[in-house]
Amino acid sequence: MIGCFKLRIMDIVLATRNKKKIEEIKRITEGMAISIFTLDDFPGCPEVEEDEDTFEANAIKKAAAVARYTGKPALADDSGLEVYALNGAPGILSSRYAGERAGDRENIEKLLYETSSIADERRGARFVCCIALASPDGSVKTFSGYVEGRIGTAPRGFNGFGYDPIFYSEGHSRTFAEMSDEEKDAISHRGRALRAIQQYLRGISEGKIDF
Ligand code: IMP
Repeated sequence: MIGCFKLRIMDIVLATRNKKKIEEIKRITEGMAISIFTLDDFPGCPEVEEDEDTFEANAIKKAAAVARYTGKPALADDSGLEVYALNGAPGILSSRYAGERAGDRENIEKLLYETSSIADERRGARFVCCIALASPDGSVKTFSGYVEGRIGTAPRGFNGFGYDPIFYSEGHSRTFAEMSDEEKDAISHRGRALRAIQQYLRGISEGKIDF
């Protein structure tokens, strides 16, 4: 007997212009009944300023604005590094810690400077990633991923991006920048948040969950 199987195609707009993030989401939704659109499909979509106080609020703000504009469910993320001894800095300012035009190298230099007098046992930190899925009617669901670790005293490794060369995840003696993409994905904040939303999207795509 053929089961009572409800299969619908769901459209999702990715609220990012970052090609790496677009590829990542396309990869995890492969084989699902989901059509991925990007902001390139909606050239008039206004830029959304990330000016909220938390990763979650920024992700929600971006996803909700794009869902409202496009009339389709939209997905956005926000992520960053929190250093406990610096009261959570750089946090939501991670990408512009050393200034609006700063690149990864300047941000790392500033963080190493700010932590230069902090002893080894107080160098704890975590990466956070929050993904929001918003529908045009205003409802929102969020998915978070975290990875605990510590900040090194000098950059090591050349893979990845951002603060990877100075972040050691708990139990590891190599930085994220010394790991392969697969190794990092398996333990990273973004990998964890993506796996959580992957499960949710699979549920929608198989008709088991209503969004
Ligand atoms: P956004 O989520 O694209 O706004 O990125 C925020 C910033 O956080 C990045 O520019 C990086 O500085 C930092 N960041 C977020 N995730 C990672 C990561 O996986 N490795 C290193 N740095 C990261």
